[in-house]
Amino acid sequence: MPKITYVQPNGESRTVEVSSGVTLMEGALEHRIAGIDAACGGSCSCSTCHVHVDAEWFAKTGEPDEAEKDTLEFAIEPSATSRLSCQVEITDDLDGLVVRVADEQA
Ligand code: FES
Repeated sequence: MPKITYVQPNGESRTVEVSSGVTLMEGALEHRIAGIDAACGGSCSCSTCHVHVDAEWFAKTGEPDEAEKDTLEFAIEPSATSRLSCQVEITDDLDGLVVRVADEQA
């Protein structure tokens, strides 16, 4: 199972195993990672699952599509590597992925 590291705004981090095929958001909820609210349940309409992907990993997670970009406009202080974690599907290629939970969710 891919290991994913979620870093909190205060620098604390947790590395957990997340099954391939689920989303980065679902992995966070399963492991009770703080700061991922996921208010819309993963339908790309709330932006409360906002994370900043580690720059070294952004090419592997890929760019957000147009719908995700539209929703990211509602996120607080999005960055060049922002993603909505409900739109990132975990694959074996993402083993070692590091993401930072947004300082604040919209
Ligand atoms: Fe709402 Fe991701 S859970 S946009």
